[in-house]
Amino acid sequence: MKKVLVMHGPNLNLLGEREPGIYGTDTFESINNEITAKANDLGFECEVFQSNSEGALIDKLHAARLDCAGVVLNAGAYTHYSYAIRDAIAAIKIPVIEVHISNVHSRDEFRNNSVISPVCAGVIAGFGKNSYSLGLIALKDIIEGE
Ligand code: DQA
Repeated sequence: MKKVLVMHGPNLNLLGEREPGIYGTDTFESINNEITAKANDLGFECEVFQSNSEGALIDKLHAARLDCAGVVLNAGAYTHYSYAIRDAIAAIKIPVIEVHISNVHSRDEFRNNSVISPVCAGVIAGFGKNSYSLGLIALKDIIEGE
């Protein structure tokens, strides 16, 4: 069974209590359970990883290139300014799908720009927690088309 990695960046561990009007009231744990169930339904083994640290996210992307078929990544605010995460995505050969819970284009101006989009296979934003499931579906299409 192929393995996929779903990664959450900073502050996403507080899902459920963090700005519920924007990110919803489902807890981080329940969202991760849904992500894992969806990945399993799609025929993937799934690892979920969260870190508030840029370096830890980069290390995990590097490790994923060795044992994962692809990555669904919500890089949180790092999306908007981390050239280091962008370079890590560009360095690995597996597909990375950028996802966001909120519609980043309808919010603060600084969220309109993603420095990681150009090196990701595609972007999904604004569908709440379902953005992760949609990311997994998109990833499956890419992996199976390889
Ligand atoms: C987010 C959007 C980012 O702008 C924000 O910094 C986050 C979450 C989202 O999932 O909507 O932490 O990536």
